[in-house]
Order: sequence, then C-alpha cells, then structure tokens
Amino acid sequence: MRTFFGIFSGWLCLTVGISCSGAGSSGSSLPAYRDESRSLEERVEDALSRMTLDEKVAVLHAQSKFSSAGVPRLGIPELWCTDGPHGIRPEVLWDEWDQAGWTNDSCTAFPALTCLAATWNPAMSALYGKSIGEEARYREKDVLLGPGVNIYRTPLNGRNFEYMGEDPYLASRMVVPYVREVQKNGVAACVKHFALNNQETRRNDVNVEVDDRALHEIYLPAFEAAVREGGAWAVMGSYNKYKGQHCCHNRYLLNDILKGEWAFDGAVISDWGGVHDTRQAVENGLDLEFGTWTDGLRAGTRNAYDNYYLAQPYLDLLREGEADVQTLDDKVRRVLRLIFRTAMNTRKPFGSLNSPEHLAAARQIAGEGMVLLKNDGGTLPFDPSAMKRLLVVGENAVKMMTVGGGSSSLKVRHECTPLEGIRAAAEASGCGVVYERGYVGDPSGSYNGVTTGQDLSESRSAERLIADAVAAAKEADAVLFVGGLNKSDFQDCEGADRKEYGLPYAQDRVIEALAAANPRLAVVLVSGNAVAMPWLDRAPAVLEAWFSGSEAGNALADVVFGKVNPSGKLPFTFPVRLEDNAAHAVGEFPGGDTVRYREGLFVGYRWHEIREIAPLFAFGHGLSYTTFSISNLRLSADRMASDASLTVRVDVTNTGERAGAEVVQLYVGDDESFVQRPLKELKGFEKVSLQPGETRTVAFEITPAALSYYDDTKSAWRAEPGAFTIHVGAASDDIRQTGHFVLE
Ligand code: GLC
Repeated sequence: MRTFFGIFSGWLCLTVGISCSGAGSSGSSLPAYRDESRSLEERVEDALSRMTLDEKVAVLHAQSKFSSAGVPRLGIPELWCTDGPHGIRPEVLWDEWDQAGWTNDSCTAFPALTCLAATWNPAMSALYGKSIGEEARYREKDVLLGPGVNIYRTPLNGRNFEYMGEDPYLASRMVVPYVREVQKNGVAACVKHFALNNQETRRNDVNVEVDDRALHEIYLPAFEAAVREGGAWAVMGSYNKYKGQHCCHNRYLLNDILKGEWAFDGAVISDWGGVHDTRQAVENGLDLEFGTWTDGLRAGTRNAYDNYYLAQPYLDLLREGEADVQTLDDKVRRVLRLIFRTAMNTRKPFGSLNSPEHLAAARQIAGEGMVLLKNDGGTLPFDPSAMKRLLVVGENAVKMMTVGGGSSSLKVRHECTPLEGIRAAAEASGCGVVYERGYVGDPSGSYNGVTTGQDLSESRSAERLIADAVAAAKEADAVLFVGGLNKSDFQDCEGADRKEYGLPYAQDRVIEALAAANPRLAVVLVSGNAVAMPWLDRAPAVLEAWFSGSEAGNALADVVFGKVNPSGKLPFTFPVRLEDNAAHAVGEFPGGDTVRYREGLFVGYRWHEIREIAPLFAFGHGLSYTTFSISNLRLSADRMASDASLTVRVDVTNTGERAGAEVVQLYVGDDESFVQRPLKELKGFEKVSLQPGETRTVAFEITPAALSYYDDTKSAWRAEPGAFTIHVGAASDDIRQTGHFVLE
C-alpha cells in the first residue's frame, strides 16, 4: 500500500508541480509547512526551504493596495491587511483608496482610541479588541492596521484621536488587551506608527530629534508593551525620520530596539508610502513594503508593485551578490510566521459583523469613556421626565463622524448621531426635543467614495443661526450644545494638523449667546483633541464625548440623562492656552526639516507640574454623578530593597447617593534624583465600581521598574536609592493621599 501511495503521491506532485520533498517523512500525508501539529518554526523552515528566490522576494511587498503575495505554487495564501484602529475599512478596489462599492462590508464603528483610553479600564480594551478582531476576521482580513499608540505631544496633531493620550504608562496598560484579543481571532494587530509620529505636518520626511531619555521613557513604552506583553505579530514603521533615517527602515529602531532588545519575532510593515530606499529597506529591518509612491492618502504610480524597493531592485541586488540571502531569509521567515498565524491558521474562530454584541460593546465603551469635565450645581444629568422641552444646538449633534479623518474612515451600517440618541431617550420620557443648527462647520460628507447621505446645506447666515438658537433657548427647559471638532482637513484628520487651538466655526460665540439665554446649559464636545474654552465660566456643565462611533447618540443620551454614570478620565491634559503646552512653549512645533522635541520627557502633565502651569483640565481628571473618598493609604514597608517590591493600599468609598466608578490613580515621585525627573509619574491605576456607601481596598505593587528612569549614559533603566513619594488620587491634580518610603 505504502509503495503504491509513494508512487502515486510522487506522480501527483510531479503533475501539479508541488515539490513533495519531506512529504510523508513524518508519516503524515501533509508536507511539514501545512501540518499544524508541527511547531510554527518547523513549518516556517520547511516552507522557506521550498521557496525559490523570486517567491521569497515576492512575499515581501504589496501586490495590491492592501494585499501582499503568498506562494501560489505551494498553496501559501496571500496576506490581506485592513485599516483601521476603530473599525474595518470598506473593501477597496485593487489599486485604489476608494471603496469598491460592495454591499456587504458595512461595519461597526467603535469609539476612537482616545475614548477607549479615557475609560482607564483594561477590560474595555479587551472588549474592544475582541469585537473589532471579530469584525476583521469575518471580513477575512489577516492584519488589522491598528492600534495606534503615538504619544499626544501637541493638541494640534491631526491624528491624536487615533491614539491613547500623553502618558506612556496609561497607553501601555490599555494597548495590551486590545492586541491580545484581536489576535485571538487569528488576525494580527499591527501596532503603529513606530515611532515618533506625533504630528502630521511634513509627516513623510520630518526628522525628529529627541533625547534618549524621552525616547525610552515617553515615546517607546507603549510599543514595547504591545510587543513584549501583547505579543503583537506586526508593527508598522512610521513615515517620519529619526536620526536622519526613515522609520520604515531605521536601523536603530527596527534592528537594535524592536528586533534586538525586544526580540520581536513578527513582521515590520511599512506605512503606505513610507519606504524610500532599497538598501536601507534590506539592511535596516523592513519586512513588508506597502503603498510605495503614494503618500498614504492620495493616488501614486499605478500598479507599480513589481518596481517596489523590495521587488525587482531587491531581486537584482540578490542576483548580483550585493545582498545576502541570510537577511532575505530572515524577512521571509517573519512574513511566513505572520501568514501561518493568520491566513493559514485553520483554528481561528469565524468572527462576526455588525452583531448586537458589537453595537452593545461600542455603546458601553463610549459611555465609559466620556469624561464629565465640569458639572456645577448638578446641572447634569438632565431629567427628561421633569422637562417639557430640551433644545439641542450644534452641527455635531447631527453630523456623522464615522466618515472622514483619513485612513480610519469607515462605512458603517448605521451611525446613531447625538440628536438621534438624545431625541429617542428624551421623547420616551415625554420630553420634546427641538434642534437648532447654531453654526455651520463642514456640510460635506464623503470620503474615499463613502458618502454620509446627509444634507447639511444651510441658507441662514451665521447671525441668523445664532439668533434662532437663542430664541429657542429662551423657550427651553434646558440646552444641550453639541459642538467640538470634526474629521475635516485641519481638524481631527490625518494628513494635516490643526491650525488653531480654539473651537472652529465661531462656536465660542454660539456658546456665549446660549449661556446668556438660558443658564441651564451643558456643553458637549465631540472631538479627539483638547480645545480652548473661553466661555467655561459661563457653562455650568461640560462633557467630553469624543468620537464615539456607531452608537454615539445612544451613549451620549445614556450619560446626559443619567442612565450611565460617567467614569471617564482625561488621557491627556487640556491646557488653558496653546502656549502652556510644552511643544509650543519650548518644544518646537511643527519644525522644518527637523523638529526638535526640546521639552524632552516633560510632556503633558509632566510639563505643567514642573513648570507650575495650571491646566484647564488635568490629565486623569473626570467627574461623576456621585462622589468618592480615597483614604487610609498604607505601605507594606517604609524601606524597600532594590530587588523587592512594596504594596500600597488605599480605601475607596462611594460617599454619594448613586452607584458609580472611580479610577484610583497612583503616581510616583523620586524625591532624591541625580537626574532631572518629572515631579511625579503615573505608575498604577484601577477603576473601581462601588454602590453608595460601599468601600473597597485597592492594592498596587510597586517594583523597582516603577521607580526607574532611563540612564542614557549606560543605555539602561536604573532605580536610584533614596526617598520616593507615592501620590494617590482621582486625578493628577487631585491627590488625596501620599506616602513615603526609601529605596535601599
Ligand atoms: C495611512 C496611515 C496608516 C494607514 C495606512 C493604510 O497613510 O498612515 O495609519 O494604516 O496608510 O491606509
């Protein structure tokens, strides 16, 4: 039988051209690379040994806008990538950015990542990753081009809404569950943009200059966490340069740090159009080239895939003996590993799209991420059963926000706008809702062939719009202004930075006029960035609602009418004025050919605190409809050996009338440091849900790592012996308890 089978399988292989060397050697009929009972590395080595030079080079670059080749001859599938961090981008044509017009690819839009970060709840990050991973899986995608974890350095960066704020510890804790849960679906997370992509101005070539301490203490930690704790299977190089080299082929970042120190075994994928040089791409750690000759947003050279830097030019170098096969094989191994983990993984679940669970997840995350910035006199929550008429004002109450903003733009099955959600909830309680536009921002509504279908045209003048809103405000029991930014150019949008720190479209005037007409005013900001609020002392309530996706309106209604008690905390500082922000005070923004991060590691609250500049709203700030006390801080010891840890405990009590959640934040200050360090840095947080009157003890483990700074003279982390202070509170500027200990 075996003889017959041996002859037959040999004939079969010859006939179909599949080289079967090694087939049957283990007794199974499958060649090793197809045999999922074997180790990943065995399968990679077997596949590699069967591939020709042309096949090896072919898997290292795109064959279409979002796909790269597999090995057809061996039945190794191609790799399909998709944007973006907030939902699965609609299918595009082979070589286009525009959507292909399919009718089965509408998705769920989850809240923007600033909103996820603002939940300060890793469980929400896990729910997010699971949900978006299921949608990617259902759409048969292998690599999700997200999450983004670039640090919030300036309020003007157009893409801050796609990232997780200004603090490396918060971003590190929040990125890990997202990555892990996405990948449980057999879909790779591709963490981006590695690294130092903190502005859109001249993003394709600006050279970032930053000192080593700031690089390691501020800009790299979230990427390291995603790789070493999250186990990310892919990382996307960023467009900008660092040390004069483009980050998509940057020796120091990719070879020395990512693949060296962090032992990353996955694939480095270029940003779309981020590759500029074959030799650098070959030698400096790039594995997969996409989007070359486009700038990541607009069309470029059509169907140029064979001429990509890692295509024919690389093949020529190899054939001329100018490039070594070892380096080639390392790249191919990484791409094969990525394919085996995803496209060729037969054990992955089937995913789902637009499920009730995903909409519920989007609504829950949005509700948990909204931040109640101000609430004088208990203005919020509104009680619609005690009102006859609620006035809603503002373009952002009706404008769809899931379309536009760059590569994170989506085509959703449905987007519940703020007005829709507010009206449904209010009318269910017998309260009428009236709407006034208030101002005109951007009436357009299409991106990459996706159109909102909304008609936001307006014939009234700006004066008329304000007059109409004021007249309606005088007749209303309460007013909800819904404004902020949007996904238009020079707002919260990829490809350009904001031009101003204030609200656009003269919204400040509208808010002032409304405040004068009706004191019962709540201002809702739909945005992904901090803004100036010159009207703040005339607005009793302010709520940051973020860009919160398909369920935006329902989530907003949940919070505004009190069905959900807000528990979000700011993931970045709101400065009073732009000049109060480090990058604008000393940093340099946007720079020219080079941008110098002169502020170093003093980003966000680190800057405000060391310079004693009071923020408008502080990092970690967020109110609740109840109140909490944080008390009874105790340390497990007042001295800590350098190889030990210390336990910090505090008691949190809900001292109000209704259930709610508090985020207990722990900051560490090095009181005797040889080098300059921030006054304090976030090193722990935990969100605690409590019934009225309930008390819970929260414990934090302090390790030497939490006390360390990056010693750039030794290129190593170091915790200095000496005195330290533990600060525990409900915000970076709301410290309730302190404790002291000495590190030996
Ligand atoms: C874009 C973005 C990146 C995105 C990629 C594909 O230019 O920089 O975040 O994933 O190209 O659209």
